[in-house]
Amino acid sequence: MGNCMDTVQQVDINTTYPSKGGSRTNLSSNPSTSTTKSGSARTNFTLPSSTNLSELPTPRTEGQILSSPNLKAFLFGDLKNATKNFRPDSLIGEGGFGCVYKGWIDEQTLAPSKPGTGMVVAVKKLKPEGFQGHKEWLTEVDYLGQLHHPNLVKLIGYCYDGDNRLLVYELMPKGSLENHLFRRGADPLPWGIRLKVAIGAARGLSFLHDDENQVIYRDFKASNILLDSEFNAKLSDFGLAKAGPTGDRTHVSTQVMGTRGYAAPEYIATGRLSIKADVYSFGVVLLELLTGRRALDRSKPATEQNLVDWTKPYLGDKRRLYRVMDMKLGGQYPKKGAHAVAGLALQCIRPEAKLRPQMSEVLEKLEELQDPKYNVTAPQVDTQRTSSGVSVPRSPMKAQPSPRRPSASASPLPAVGSPLLASRTAQVH
Ligand SMILES: Nc1ncnc2c1ncn2[C@@H]1O[C@H](COP(=O)(O)OP(=O)(O)OP(=O)(O)O)[C@@H](O)[C@H]1O
Ligand SMILES: [Mg+2]
Repeated sequence: MGNCMDTVQQVDINTTYPSKGGSRTNLSSNPSTSTTKSGSARTNFTLPSSTNLSELPTPRTEGQILSSPNLKAFLFGDLKNATKNFRPDSLIGEGGFGCVYKGWIDEQTLAPSKPGTGMVVAVKKLKPEGFQGHKEWLTEVDYLGQLHHPNLVKLIGYCYDGDNRLLVYELMPKGSLENHLFRRGADPLPWGIRLKVAIGAARGLSFLHDDENQVIYRDFKASNILLDSEFNAKLSDFGLAKAGPTGDRTHVSTQVMGTRGYAAPEYIATGRLSIKADVYSFGVVLLELLTGRRALDRSKPATEQNLVDWTKPYLGDKRRLYRVMDMKLGGQYPKKGAHAVAGLALQCIRPEAKLRPQMSEVLEKLEELQDPKYNVTAPQVDTQRTSSGVSVPRSPMKAQPSPRRPSASASPLPAVGSPLLASRTAQVH
């Protein structure tokens, strides 16, 4: 995309964030007439530590959404000041819809403060291109204005001012899981941290699923899992979130939106969306944690580009699993634990949605894996993987894994009805 700036600033880690192109398609481009004045400042909001989803009143009008007592309505000028006029050295990330900047606000009044003082926040600024993204922006304000949980990112407020759409979040100092797993030069995440991140993310998803007013998250992927200073995971980006089916229905029918490589096959094929589509995406992220590879990686040989297809034959096989394990772990992972995670991932990515486990079951299993009995790091076979998946003895000259080539990140899916759908999804699963 490259619309933001050329350089991106560090959060905590020594990060250069990849620039991404494109955005999701077929969003409503009708700016609905707002009943809320843009930029009306509100203070005195308190965030409960978690919310009962059954309290969620849906659907709500734009005016109701924007007048959430939990959210501050920021003036554009305030956010300009808080981010030093969206200067390049404030940039901390970039996605399909816009750029994310670091900013400073006063903890009490939430007014912009001098950099280095007050509370540090992440300000997401949508590209002002004909209101594309307005619907997702509003959906995010709607859900995050109401949902509060330790494993969901905290939305502090928003700005809706003319063509400007911004969101102000708590800043997650360790950035996204995507950057830790795939960014060239990132310190490898140890096994214990990978498990911790998986557990945190599973808690967030379980919270959304386990209520009579179920929420389907629909965009579970490594870039949407943000990490605090202690690697506690929080889900961000609720722009695609959708209310689950009601009554006896098992799914909702909707446009196919999401990210290639993570979206469940039945959802891509039929537009039928259920919480089991989130479980599938969770399985894909488990595979990313195990292998250190992206859900889709065009830089790999054809048979290895799709992570699900490539890893599947190895996941249930104790003796061959090491062939797909992340070499950056340097063999430092418990064999039993890794095998259990692989088995869990295999269940999550089952082609038949109803055979996939519930997120609460996945969470329970992952929590069990923190037990010391799963954490004995047995000596691993010292092998090096070739691109064909065949292992050869590691040469002493190649003891360190070579830096990986940068790869294109998983791209957004086209919506149903898009002329691209047939040809593009054919490549996906
Ligand atoms: N609250 C936050 N704290 C710290 N970093 C953040 C925060 N929100 C986003 N980021 C960083 O900004 C990057 C871009 O985020 P954004 O949600 O715009 O796009 P994305 O999730 O990477 O991609 P997509 O547009 O496909 O959803 C993230 O990957 C993350 O590194
Ligand atoms: Mg995101």
